[in-house]
Amino acid sequence: METGEIIQIFAESGFQLDPEALDILRTGASPELIQDMLRSIDSSVLVVGTQHITALNKTAEKEVEKIMPVRPVKSRLDENSRVTVLSDITNQSTCIGEYTDFVQYFKHRHHLLGDMLRKRITARPIESLKKRNLDTREPLSIIGMVLDIRSSAKGHKLIEVEDTTGTIAVLVHKEKDKELFGLANGILLDEVIGVTGTLSTDGNLMFANKIIRPDIPNTQGPELGRERAKGKAVFISDIHVGSRTFLEESWLRFVEWLGDDISYLVVAGDVVDGIGVFPNQDKELMISDIYEQYERAAAYLNAVPKHIKIIISPGNHDAVRQAEPQPRFPERITKMFRKDMIFVGNPAMVDIGGARVLIYHGRSMDDIIASIPGFSYAEPARPMVEMLKLRHLSPIYGGRVSIAPEKEDHFVIDPIPDILHCGHVHTVGVTRYKGVLTINSGTWQSQTEFQKRMNLQPVPARATVVDLATMEYRIMQFN
Ligand SMILES: [Fe+2]
Repeated sequence: METGEIIQIFAESGFQLDPEALDILRTGASPELIQDMLRSIDSSVLVVGTQHITALNKTAEKEVEKIMPVRPVKSRLDENSRVTVLSDITNQSTCIGEYTDFVQYFKHRHHLLGDMLRKRITARPIESLKKRNLDTREPLSIIGMVLDIRSSAKGHKLIEVEDTTGTIAVLVHKEKDKELFGLANGILLDEVIGVTGTLSTDGNLMFANKIIRPDIPNTQGPELGRERAKGKAVFISDIHVGSRTFLEESWLRFVEWLGDDISYLVVAGDVVDGIGVFPNQDKELMISDIYEQYERAAAYLNAVPKHIKIIISPGNHDAVRQAEPQPRFPERITKMFRKDMIFVGNPAMVDIGGARVLIYHGRSMDDIIASIPGFSYAEPARPMVEMLKLRHLSPIYGGRVSIAPEKEDHFVIDPIPDILHCGHVHTVGVTRYKGVLTINSGTWQSQTEFQKRMNLQPVPARATVVDLATMEYRIMQFN
């Protein structure tokens, strides 16, 4: 409806209209809906605000109810299920994006990951390696961030490492230690590593004997004071409501399946398909208005049995800032959903029933897959295990992920989660790495034209259900 027309209808009924409410009505209201609204607003109201627009959401809900009747609540599990947000960028963002912000951000990364490495090696400042009186036959150790990786003319790896005092080139010989050379091939830009090796006589080159990463400790005993987790959780991501390829039938079958024994549903981003995310996306959209996409998504998720606690974090198709870490959805969107839903940022660490779950949409997998020989979108578990080895969700700066230089590095994986949950790549992969369960949960849309052109084969309509007490899992299929 036209802006003037809407303002006029409200004015004739004696109401003024808040600009935000007008904005919502402009994109999604019919004259009948507005008449419904006018009837429901108390005559003492002077300015109609967004809080009065309940009717709109009801239509999407009614449409979904027609195909998916609301089920009675039988379970008592809701009394026991609890969710605590342990870390989340929402309302913590401080960055402006200036040069000094980036310096501080990378210093913080070096500091946190360096501390993890310092528990295992005694490192010297890089600057001190240039001293003339050093014994170059004795192995020495350094800890630093990877500034550059290249191959020498003879095919050896040259890794330039930087700490707060200086930089040094590290040479990994292609023949001397095949295992070490293999590891060096998978080193990523901007990750923090520890290197032990001997020095060239001028102190400008280090010959690596060993490279270590922060990694997860081998012996992860039960932590003192931590209770055993309880309940069952279901992990999904990339619903992509609004897309022509969204698999409604499969989705409804999934919601129908969600039973009394499930306590939590965790969604790792891309709730809707969004608008303008890739070239010519409008041709692939069923719902072309972003807020209507969320209304529909809210109706689908509101139909999930009420005893299930739903946790939602955003992805790159969602309507929040694209630079990561991303805050949770704005109120304009969250208010379309059931009041008991828990919205968090990306990444975010939550405790569900006593299990620590690190949720990250997973955009950095584009960069990790492109950087490591042999990695592919068909095996999303591999880049996720790399994240755990690096103890970092998004190491590479300047790739597909635009990193917002916050004061603290929110991508550092600490504490160690019980479950790492990602999405983004639209393929499924579940594995365990040193006691951490990594889940990539696929998508709810079939292959898009864009994916066809990119030769990406999605694995849609899957949900991974995990018994939090035992960490046993099953991948369920709904298509
Ligand atoms: Fe997605």
